[in-house]
Amino acid sequence: MSHFLVFLGSARDSTPPSPARLGLRVARACVALLRVGGHTVELIDPLDIELPQIFKPHFAYGKASVPQPLDDLAGKIEQADGYVMVSPEYNHSMGPALSHLLNHFGSSLFAFKPSAIVTYSAGQWGGVRAAVSMRTFLSELGCLPVSAMVHVPHAQDVLDADGEFLDDADRWAGYFGRTLGQLEWWSEAAARQREEQDPNRVSPAFQRAPDQRNAP
Ligand SMILES: Cc1cc2nc3c(=O)[nH]c(=O)nc-3n(C[C@H](O)[C@H](O)[C@H](O)COP(=O)(O)O)c2cc1C
Repeated sequence: MSHFLVFLGSARDSTPPSPARLGLRVARACVALLRVGGHTVELIDPLDIELPQIFKPHFAYGKASVPQPLDDLAGKIEQADGYVMVSPEYNHSMGPALSHLLNHFGSSLFAFKPSAIVTYSAGQWGGVRAAVSMRTFLSELGCLPVSAMVHVPHAQDVLDADGEFLDDADRWAGYFGRTLGQLEWWSEAAARQREEQDPNRVSPAFQRAPDQRNAP
């Protein structure tokens, strides 16, 4: 069994557009489906994490001065076997609350573990345009996204506030399950391989010297 973090990609508090934080429903559905599979899961809500006003990534602080909320989340990221990234589509792009939160952490915390892309929208496209660019983002972050993705159009008509499917629950669970199933498979495979061979020996975490970066 694996341990997953489900990142919720919205910190929005506005109406219109209504409802606010539609993403909470989608994230709750992901948490419930993974728990049914016997996994342990934590929902990471950007509203619960007090980020400093000035942007400074976790890895740029000295050990003694790193803000506790950032350090706590870094520990959770490091401990997890895989990630579900739940994002709205804002202006055809990934939700800024999600990219801002993730930008606080270096790729070494996520590396050699898989992720799943889950997008949604209040309209008809389900966030597919955001999803495409999330592949690039998450690949650079080190947590390669699995091939299947979830897109939920009209999410307000699909899920209630608790993240329960309003209609066709089996069909939706099957649809989510394809992506989450790939995530589970890769998470278990990667965990086994991390035991077998330390990924840091294959690809050490980036340090300061340019020759340690992926560049000529
Ligand atoms: C700033 C902003 C930009 C948006 N851009 C898009 C968009 O490009 N495509 C889309 O389908 N919906 C777009 N929407 C509508 C969202 O799908 C809808 O508001 C959704 O509820 C956002 O998720 P959230 O409530 O979890 O923040 C946008 C909403 C906002 C607030």
